[in-house]
Amino acid sequence: MSLEKAYPKEVKQILSKYPPEHKRSAVMPLLFLAQRAAGYITKSAMQDIAQMLDITETDVASIVGFYTLYHDKKEGKYRMQVCTDLPCALRGADEFLDKLCGNLGIKVGETTADGLVTLEAVMCLAACDKAPMFQVQGPDGIQYHENMTMDRTKEVIAALKYAGREVK
Ligand code: FES
Repeated sequence: MSLEKAYPKEVKQILSKYPPEHKRSAVMPLLFLAQRAAGYITKSAMQDIAQMLDITETDVASIVGFYTLYHDKKEGKYRMQVCTDLPCALRGADEFLDKLCGNLGIKVGETTADGLVTLEAVMCLAACDKAPMFQVQGPDGIQYHENMTMDRTKEVIAALKYAGREVK
């Protein structure tokens, strides 16, 4: 079922905020809607959005690829996104990420066997002087964690495991 058919009210409301000649500006909220609906942005949702806005699927896919908040694959319930951009790397982000991989038993880009956590390395998250830092994207939104140690990170992971059980 198309995004428009599944969520007619929401789609209409989003499109009504933009003049017809600038309807392509609705791409971001429509992507957000599609991701909220399926947990990630499916290829068919990208096609729907492209069609609704008279833009190409490549335009839509490039936006999804650019922003760390959009995802085109089904992954873990929580995404731990560690900034490894240069300022954070200078504060030990790479070593932190290595230890985190060891703790979770996965490599960057992988998901834990229980489907709970996907680990990602991302570019600047605007906390450049607070590395090691990461954000967690989950069903309840986004949480920032700054100036992290592995001990504090283990507490975060334990809390995610607990919350993950609650959410199911
Ligand atoms: S470089 Fe890591 S938050 Fe900016």
